[in-house]
Amino acid sequence: MMYNSRITGMGFFVPDNVVTNDNLTKMMDTSDEWIQERTGIKERRWIPEGSDETSATMGAKAAKIAIERSGLSKDDIDFIVFATLSPDYYFPGCGVQIQEMLEMNTIGALDVRNQCSGFVYALSVADQFIKTGMYKHILVIGSEYHSNGLDKTTRGRGVSVIFGDGAGACVLSRTEDSKKGILSSHLHSEGKYADKLIVASPSIKHWVPEIIANEKEDVSYFPYMDGTFVFKNAVVRFSEVIMEALTANQVRPEDIDLFIPHQANLRISQFIQQKFKLRDDQVYNNIMKYGNTTAASIIIALTEAWESGKVKEGDIVLLAAFGSGFTWGSVLMRW
Ligand code: COA
Repeated sequence: MMYNSRITGMGFFVPDNVVTNDNLTKMMDTSDEWIQERTGIKERRWIPEGSDETSATMGAKAAKIAIERSGLSKDDIDFIVFATLSPDYYFPGCGVQIQEMLEMNTIGALDVRNQCSGFVYALSVADQFIKTGMYKHILVIGSEYHSNGLDKTTRGRGVSVIFGDGAGACVLSRTEDSKKGILSSHLHSEGKYADKLIVASPSIKHWVPEIIANEKEDVSYFPYMDGTFVFKNAVVRFSEVIMEALTANQVRPEDIDLFIPHQANLRISQFIQQKFKLRDDQVYNNIMKYGNTTAASIIIALTEAWESGKVKEGDIVLLAAFGSGFTWGSVLMRW
């Protein structure tokens, strides 16, 4: 027997520290006007200096809320999938830290390394474990601590103004109702463009001795992004993978109750909205408040939308993402 999986609880956590565009002008040559016009971002949350907060600790906070709202206890969870590009350690991954922080049983924990598509990938991984009957309840987390790894000088302004810190989590649970839950997931990649959005170091190629030797002039430790190239690919791949989801499920754009695009750039979201002729009430964006929180963005947005009553029983909910790799994907579900 094949089961379906549906979200039974969601939560998010963002640091209290609000960094406005004006705050950024004190660190680099930029302006509120440029950032808002190009990206839609007004402010983001950055973990303040000296804080002990990390991707794992924020993920744990979001996860606790999600488990509580699902009506389950931590001991009911069978597996952890953690998506992040900013793990606390090069290894082990953040998933095992959640097992420890939440004092869970010695269940399996997996990290997903798919950047902005991380949450869509993580959700699809969890969905497969549930569909086959292997697990009943899986904790899926997306969390990012970007701010400590950004080049906050004028040199890095094309990247650093975009990213924000935060975490979101959900519990994905087994259901025997074949019409509810995740209806499909579609995943893609094109490694040819890995170097278009990348943190090249530290890596096994550029390891610790180099870090110490190279010092200040080496920018390979900061995220590099060919922004225009990423933008152009994003709008194409977003469209394709949304179309794939709609076609596979015979759903028309007008049937979508809620579309949550990965919050990369408001202009990308608006382009997709126009392309599929979606009304404003069909699309949820919150990049204005949080910037691009990468693997956390979709689940933070979905949680916020749900908290404000925008997700109802029976609704068709579409998630789609594109990002570094390049990787992209979509998940279509009936709530
Ligand atoms: N403040 C002020 N000026 C800035 C700036 C900033 N923060 N960042 C870049 N600029 C300048 C550039 O130096 C450039 O100046 P020049 O023309 O004198 O060389 C000018 O603005 C235009 O830069 P460009 O990079 O071409 O701008 P853009 O319109 O492509 O916008 C992005 C830049 C990053 C906002 C845009 O490319 C983008 O959103 N790309 C996709 C990002 C994305 O989705 N990333 C995540 C993937 S999931």
